Amino acid sequence: MSARKIVLDCDPGHDDAIAIMLACASPEIELLGVTTVAGNVTLEHTTRNALRVLDLLGRADIPVAAGRDGPLIRKLSTAAVMHGESGLAGPLAFEPSRSQSHLTALQLIEEVLRQAGEPITLVATGPLTNIADVVRQLPEAHHLIAEIVIMGGAVELGNWTPAAEFNIWVDPDAAKIVFEAGIPLTMIGLEVTHQAWLSDAHADHLRGTGRAGQYVAELLDHFVKFHQDRFGWPGAPIHDAVTIAHLIDPTLVSTMAMNVQIETTSPLCIGRTVADRWSVTGLPPTAKVGLTIDRDRFVTLLLSAISHLA
Ligand code: BDR
Ligand code: CA
Repeated sequence: MSARKIVLDCDPGHDDAIAIMLACASPEIELLGVTTVAGNVTLEHTTRNALRVLDLLGRADIPVAAGRDGPLIRKLSTAAVMHGESGLAGPLAFEPSRSQSHLTALQLIEEVLRQAGEPITLVATGPLTNIADVVRQLPEAHHLIAEIVIMGGAVELGNWTPAAEFNIWVDPDAAKIVFEAGIPLTMIGLEVTHQAWLSDAHADHLRGTGRAGQYVAELLDHFVKFHQDRFGWPGAPIHDAVTIAHLIDPTLVSTMAMNVQIETTSPLCIGRTVADRWSVTGLPPTAKVGLTIDRDRFVTLLLSAISHLA
């Protein structure tokens, strides 16, 4: 089977960085471009972090294009408290070897869509601001998108507010546009990603396996400690890497088609993904929603991929 061609739109971020690495490590995936968005930290930082991670992997051939520096309507709120001011707290920061593309994220995605010769999967692991631009500004290119796979949302509880998950909460207006676009959409939310955690023991396993393994171990040193201190969990969810794992092995995550709508105004519930798990509305499905994950196989896949990188 030929590799699945993707563009990864992200806001690195510890788990975004690991998602980039998993995509680069996997023959099932061909990463045609990385686009960045403001989210976990500012756009300047997320873009530099994407360049850094690709440098580390020796993949300066993969274009990186910067997109939106804030949500469509709301003011940007970051998750620097979790990821550090730089977005990648833990390992020593180094200067990227190159600058980002002269294209914007929207222009790079358009170029990839038009030149790929086959429909492309857009994977989004940050706020959906850039993807909303694609939906609104490239209507004639929708048929060139095979699917949009996002990390975001939750059927049940949120993580940034009791009602909402961070990526959707940061830019609910963009999420609404994406969920209403009519393009095939898969939502990997917190029900799935909270199962997909790595611990200190996994960090130690990766330490010394190679440059990428060492880097991920140092990312985990920070990320695991944050989740232990803040939530009392045994490890840190590697949310964003689940999108890529799902594309590599579609049997890892179980999904169910359901109607999902985005709350954009309620002060208490803004950013909530209102998912009709029991079809009580009778409304047609708008997304395939992840419900469970085979955690052991996910961890094995991820550790093996990272430890075999440079
Ligand atoms: C999401 O929020 C970000 O902090 C992570 O990178 C992930 O994409 C989880 O809610
Ligand atoms: Ca992210």
